[in-house]
Amino acid sequence: MSDKKLDRFIVFEGLDGSGKSTQARMLARHLAAQGASVHLTAEPTERAIGRLVRQALRRDFCTDSRALALLYAADRSDHLSDPEDGILAHLSRGGTVISDRYFYSSLAYQGVSEDEGFLRTINDYPHPETVVFIDTDVRLCLERIDSRGSGRELFEKEDYLRRVRDNFLRILTTLPPSVRLVRVDGAASAEEIFSTLLSQISG
Ligand code: ADP
Ligand code: TYD
Repeated sequence: MSDKKLDRFIVFEGLDGSGKSTQARMLARHLAAQGASVHLTAEPTERAIGRLVRQALRRDFCTDSRALALLYAADRSDHLSDPEDGILAHLSRGGTVISDRYFYSSLAYQGVSEDEGFLRTINDYPHPETVVFIDTDVRLCLERIDSRGSGRELFEKEDYLRRVRDNFLRILTTLPPSVRLVRVDGAASAEEIFSTLLSQISG
């Protein structure tokens, strides 16, 4: 996997319900208020391949785990390279890009069933400057997902998420030294987490 890194690109990672979208939004608002041009985005995307991924997560059609890994990786390629709205295009115009999930999610989630070497090969994408990992207890994540009231998706099961968390912890130790890792405890209030995150990002 390439050690190439994209400056001004910040990625949030964590389990479903960990609170990463909330923190990504708070950081985007904070940086925009300081005058930065910020593009907040997410994977799976709202593009054609991303919509297909979401259909698979709702079990609208049946596919296998290898095909799903390839779909996530293909969605990511579009997400990076769209000439107008892609991550690379926003960065080349001088903006800051914040993404709710990136290829570390593929290594952690698809890594439960697929070979890590295969996943790294199909996800040979550049690293961001910063990875923020919101580390939230699996049961707390599931409580939050259930209180959202929209039902559970494919991976939202306790045993599965425990294995995903173990994968995240292992994978995040393999980041190139130039990538900044910020790990925050997700059990506190959103405001407390954000203040810890900000002190680590600016520290
Ligand atoms: P994710 O993007 O990781 O799935 P969200 O940010 O969507 O997580 O949060 C999941 C749910 O938990 C949402 O209903 C959100 O309002 C709530 N939530 C987010 N952060 C916190 C927090 N620190 N404490 C309590 N609830 C939270
Ligand atoms: P997401 O919409 O971020 O879910 P949530 O807001 O609940 O955290 O992601 C949808 C699901 O897709 C989630 O279960 C994580 C999974 N996922 C993968 O398995 N691999 C990937 O590469 C990505 C980006 C997401």
